[in-house]
Parts: sequence; C-alpha cells; structure tokens
Amino acid sequence: MKKRVIVTGGAGYIGSHTVIELVNAGCTPIVMDNFSNSTKEVLVGLHGILGFEPEVEEVDCADRSALLAAFERIAEDGSIDGIIHFAAFKAVGESTQLPLKYYANNIASTVNILEAAQQHGTTEVVFSSSCTVYGQPEAIPVDESAPMPSAESPYGYTKQACERIITDFAASGYPLKAALLRYFNPIGAHSSSLIGELPLNHPNNLVPYLTQAVAMLRDPLTVFGDDYPTPDGTCIRDYIHVMDLAKAHVAALDWLGKQSTACEAFNLGTGEGNSVLEVIQAFERATGVTVPHRIGPRRAGDVTAIFADASKARRELGWSCNFSLEEALRDAWNWQQALGA
Ligand code: UD1
Repeated sequence: MKKRVIVTGGAGYIGSHTVIELVNAGCTPIVMDNFSNSTKEVLVGLHGILGFEPEVEEVDCADRSALLAAFERIAEDGSIDGIIHFAAFKAVGESTQLPLKYYANNIASTVNILEAAQQHGTTEVVFSSSCTVYGQPEAIPVDESAPMPSAESPYGYTKQACERIITDFAASGYPLKAALLRYFNPIGAHSSSLIGELPLNHPNNLVPYLTQAVAMLRDPLTVFGDDYPTPDGTCIRDYIHVMDLAKAHVAALDWLGKQSTACEAFNLGTGEGNSVLEVIQAFERATGVTVPHRIGPRRAGDVTAIFADASKARRELGWSCNFSLEEALRDAWNWQQALGA
C-alpha cells in the first residue's frame, strides 16, 4: 500500500506508533501536530526507529485557515490519499472542568479536517474514537451495534458528536469513506523503548500512573474502588497493546481502499477483560517488580466493566491482536525505565 497519509496528532501516543506501522506498510505519513500535548522528542524517537524523520507540519487543526494552508502546502508535493485523525484532547476529568476547550478543539478540528479533505479530493478518513461512546453497556463484550447512551463527559460527547459529523458528511453526497475506530484501553510502547506514552502532567490513566509509581516518581498507585460487582471488586477493562492498535489503522486504510462507499465503526480491543488487580498481578509477573498500591475510593464516572467484541474488525479488516497483556506491560515498563535513563 503506497498511500500518502496525513496523521493529525502524529506526535501523540497512538499517532506516533501508527506512523511506524504506516511506514512498515509502504505508506508515507505526514505528521500534523501542534505539540500541545506532546514534545518534539517524539520525532527523535521516530528517527531512531525509522532511520529518518517523517515530514512534519506544525499546525493547530482547530485553526481553520492554518489547517487549510497546511493542506495546500502538502498537496503541492502530491496527492493526499488518506487522513488519520487522532488530534484531540482526551482527559475525561479536565473535560468536565473545561467543556468549551474540548468542544472547540475536538469538534472544530474534525470539521476542519473534513473540509480540507473535500478541498483536496481526499476520500479515505480514519477517525480515532473510543469505547467511551458506549458508556456502561448493557451486555459485555460490547459490539458496534450497542446503543450510545447520553455521554458521561464532554470528552465522551465530542467522540459521539464527531462520529455523527463524519457519518452525516459521508451521507451528504461527498464520496467520503470513513472508519470510526473505537479504542478500548491502549497501553504499552514500541519495543525499542524510543517512543511510548508521555503524559506531560499527572497521569490519569492506569498504566502510566502504575509505571511512574513503580519508578517511585509518584505515590503508590491507588486502586479506584474494590467494591464493584466484579469477581475481585475492581473495574474491568480491555487493555490493548498500542502496536496492535497501530496496525489496525493500517488495516482500516487498506480496507477503505477496497470499498466503494463506507462509514463503519470498528471496536479495537483484545476481546478480554482484566480487572485493575489483574493488571497489577500481570505487571508483577511480566517484570518481577512489585507494584506499590493501596485500595482507595471509587473514581467518579468510571464504568464497572467493559471489553470488546472485536469480531467485526477481525472479519472485515483481517486484523487481530498479537501481544499479550504481560507483553504490553513489559513494554510499558521498559519505556518508563528508558525515560528515567
Ligand atoms: C479513560 C476514559 C476513556 C478514555 C480513556 C483514554 C473514563 C471513565 N474513561 O478510560 O473515556 O478514552 O481514559 O484517555 O475516564 N485506575 C485506578 N487507579 C488509577 C488510574 C486508573 O484504579 O490511578 C483504574 C480505573 O478506575 C479504571 C482502570 O484503572 O478501572 C482504567 O482506567 P484508565 O486508564 O483511566 O482508563 P478508562 O477509565 O478505562
């Protein structure tokens, strides 16, 4: 597959790993990022892995005129065959404090990207969505036909709204082909430990907090609640290695290339649920290092249990996961250690 693909948020966690898999698949990624939640060190890591630095356009996707100008510059060198749109804010808690920041950024970026796609005749768009669109599903594993309840947070609402915006645009007459990828819980890092998840502030997500706690950069991990109706009382999630997730984007682009019309959602998860305590145990098995932790109160807004029915992605995209939970946690720990070096 030899496509020239714009990767918005390409310096971010999932975006940077996807850049590697795009190159491995023969594509030319063009990173579009304003580095508001990432650093340029990521480009050094990508250079170390790829042997070259990908083309970068430093631009805020929410700034319509700047974004359209960036697309113009990129189009001067050749066709824009696809767009993978990662760029978005993603901190659930912050979104409840600063909803306008989330609406302005996440929604405007998506609208602008679609306008730019239309201007340049780009028909293949892959959108970075989240299993948060399901809230607490009535049945697990959850498949793509599950209803979307009212979103729990402004962040969650931006994912539902952007899915809707893309769906409406695809139905409007413009020949857009779109894959809406609903991620479960991405963890881990590239095996080189040259790139990984880099929370710039206090990590909100489990695995980056856990590895920082083990590295004694943070207080012991607080397990948010052990009185949920699950076998060990802690919440259950579907943790997927970020490189498996990255490969799914390549598979989605490949799939879009074979469709005449498409606007489809795909769950991207392993299909297995693990509790917080199981993640801690798996980390200890994988690394031989003990996780300092204590049980604390529940965190507001957490759903009890969710994991993916990812059979549609397997069937349609020919994609499935290769890495185990232990491997993902080992790679997360290797990355944490590389950061400290
Ligand atoms: C969260 C968001 C989700 C978003 C994703 C990526 C919520 C409700 N969901 O997923 O919409 O797409 O992040 O940003 O916020 N945990 C602890 N201690 C910690 C941190 C987490 O016990 O210090 C537990 C949580 O209670 C949860 C699990 O670990 O059960 C995973 O948490 P997290 O990594 O934050 O992901 P989600 O909440 O699943």
